[in-house]
Amino acid sequence: MLVKEIIRRKRDGEKLSRREIDTLIEGVSDGAVSREQVSAFCMAVYFQNMTPREISDLTDAMVRSGQRIDWQKHDLGGPVVDKHSTGGVGDKVSLMLAPMIAACGGFVPMISGRGLGHSGGTLDKMEAIPGYNATPDLDTLYQVVGDIGCAIIGQTAELAPVDRVIYSVRDVTATVESVPLITASILSKKISAGLDALVMDIKVGVGAFMATEGEAETLASSILRTAEESHLPTRAVLTSMDEVLGRSAGNALEVREVLDYLSGRTRDPRLHEVVMALTTEMLLLAGLAADHAEAGRKLTSVLENGRALEIFAAMIAALGGPKDFVERPDRYLAQAPVIRPVFAPASGYISAIDVRAMGNMIIRLGGGRAVPGQSLDMAVGFTDVARLGEYVDSERPIAIIHARTDDDAAGIVADIQNSYHLSDEAPQDIPAVVRKRITPDGCSDNLGP
Ligand code: URA
Repeated sequence: MLVKEIIRRKRDGEKLSRREIDTLIEGVSDGAVSREQVSAFCMAVYFQNMTPREISDLTDAMVRSGQRIDWQKHDLGGPVVDKHSTGGVGDKVSLMLAPMIAACGGFVPMISGRGLGHSGGTLDKMEAIPGYNATPDLDTLYQVVGDIGCAIIGQTAELAPVDRVIYSVRDVTATVESVPLITASILSKKISAGLDALVMDIKVGVGAFMATEGEAETLASSILRTAEESHLPTRAVLTSMDEVLGRSAGNALEVREVLDYLSGRTRDPRLHEVVMALTTEMLLLAGLAADHAEAGRKLTSVLENGRALEIFAAMIAALGGPKDFVERPDRYLAQAPVIRPVFAPASGYISAIDVRAMGNMIIRLGGGRAVPGQSLDMAVGFTDVARLGEYVDSERPIAIIHARTDDDAAGIVADIQNSYHLSDEAPQDIPAVVRKRITPDGCSDNLGP
């Protein structure tokens, strides 16, 4: 079967058989399918979509491109659970959530991705920590998850390796925003990781791959349906990406915000709301809490008693990072030479933010990839990012830029200003950050107390 014929059939809107999908994915796996062909296939899927059957077949073929972990052999003594986000700007939730769940008795083998399109990647954030090995062998993964309770790593050569290839092509070919491709990409990694339960954070808004609630719900249904076919209990939570999540965006800068959060120095309320909603869902789905109240108590306790921070520190040390990272982050995290505030041209209340443009500006600063394989400048990005409804004027900047050079910083000032829309009145219709919880049976807005 010729690969170009499979691509042609999808291009023309035909349904692919399981055999055709297997042929394509096996070819990506052994290198017989070229990057150009992967790119054309992704664009065909982007325009022509896939049926639920094709999405399941694609996911399954991607899982079979590697191994599937069987945690039963490792006798962990607790449920194996994870969450995955569809991606956004400033989304550092995984870095807090994994140690919080581990501190509550769950085990989290978190297989995460690099930046994709305008969105940041958990893996890139972890690699801002010098020495951190984000691609350990499977034996190291088993050991770290068993001993510490969580490990945030990237796709290894063993787990859904074709996703790495397809992901890097989608990243630079404007083929990210496709329900079938996102579904298969996420679930192939999660199914390979041998989870007992998965919680999906489906981002919605200007800075998300799914801009409207309708699109986000379509993605949620696709993921829930495909996960169910693979017997992976899954829930989805829709959360807002109408503004940067938290106060920072950029790899090392976000790691700092995570340390502030886990240590309790500062906790941005909207970020906290998202972290608590997702971790609560995980504890409930994994059977680690009987109800919302118990989940809330457990999660608050591991933040307040420092256990989640200790686990974060232990995970970093176990994966090759500095043993005193949490105590002395300044020694290890890269700092940009140029740090300067950007002020709005006039004062007013922030009424809308082009979050996607903010993500793309991080790429321009060198903090994300413009071409596959590009190495990143971990230091660059934004801090003190103003949010919807806030008043900005000549005292309160929209954001603080962290850049490698003065020219880099100057080059994006006007674009940041243009990304922020101001009004004279405080906006009344700012969407809730946690919008909706979705179960395989349908929607529920009831997110508990
Ligand atoms: N996260 C992934 O792992 N894959 C996608 O396609 C989008 C978000």
